[in-house]
Amino acid sequence: MNEIDLDAHLAQAATDIAAATDLAALKDLDGVLLGKKSAITAAKRTLGGLEPDQRRALGLRLNEVRDELTGLLDERRRHLEVGERAAQLENERLDLTELDHGRRLGHRHVITQTWERLEDLFVGMGYTVSEGPEIEDEWHNFGALNFPPDHPARDMYDTLYVNYGDPQSTLLRTHTSPVQVRVMEDQEPPIYSIMPGRVFRSDTADATHMPVFHQIEALVIDRGITFGDLAGTLEAFTTAYFGEGFTSRLRPSYFPFTEPSAEFDIRRPDGSWLELGGCGMVHPNVLTAAGLDPEEWSGFAFGFGLDRLALMRHDIDDLRELFRNDHRFLSQF
Ligand code: DAH
Repeated sequence: MNEIDLDAHLAQAATDIAAATDLAALKDLDGVLLGKKSAITAAKRTLGGLEPDQRRALGLRLNEVRDELTGLLDERRRHLEVGERAAQLENERLDLTELDHGRRLGHRHVITQTWERLEDLFVGMGYTVSEGPEIEDEWHNFGALNFPPDHPARDMYDTLYVNYGDPQSTLLRTHTSPVQVRVMEDQEPPIYSIMPGRVFRSDTADATHMPVFHQIEALVIDRGITFGDLAGTLEAFTTAYFGEGFTSRLRPSYFPFTEPSAEFDIRRPDGSWLELGGCGMVHPNVLTAAGLDPEEWSGFAFGFGLDRLALMRHDIDDLRELFRNDHRFLSQF
């Protein structure tokens, strides 16, 4: 084999190497080009019969060609290895996008939606949001709210007592009104605050009653607050929450912690009425019990059931549905 042949051999080999499309084909090619039966090996065998000068020259040239072939083969091998690894990874990839089918996003419970909407509305009117404990003492739930001991008004609340301390000293709060007392104890007036929360009564569950339900309380204490402010606030709230065409009315009532006291109803555009809650001017005894001077401060309060608002807004006719937590039902709202 002369030098011309070697150049042609090398050029052909380079084309073949570049054309090898997988590692197996390349391995075969490696055998053909550098193995025992290769042209290079055959040429080496001829070296022994050559003149020393020719032998040296051809020997050097053969080594060069072998090194070049080895280099080309190695380079092609690395290239094919990267490609095959990528193909393998692609093959083993798990298609997790299938798990996306039918995925549904959750959302807030109807009661939470109502709760947050009320908070937004009152915060927009300048009120703060306050909270108090669900396990309450007798003083905050009744005493400080002007329910004397053994007063018949206590019977309006089917109280669940907690077996802690003196008998009937600790209870699950029956309304959010005790938070009024805590706010007055903790903060200097003026106070403009709402107090949403969970309340408890020993009621049997039916379409309109649950032993656990939600109320929202409002308390305003400032100088010179009048019954007109109360009526105006309730009217503003009614239109803001329910929309144009809804109005409110007050009916005389009795609560130990307000004087005068009233119930307030909402009038729907179709003329029907919804009884919403109670309200009134904070009783001087309540101000005094919370450490405020009734000569200096006056205020109003109101409280109503939050669950009922949710029912009405969504035309739900059974309160128990809100607590069953059947997602087929809840996902509608
Ligand atoms: N706490 C009363 C109840 O649960 C509702 C209520 C009435 C709250 C009059 C008030 C109020 O703040 O002034 O029946």
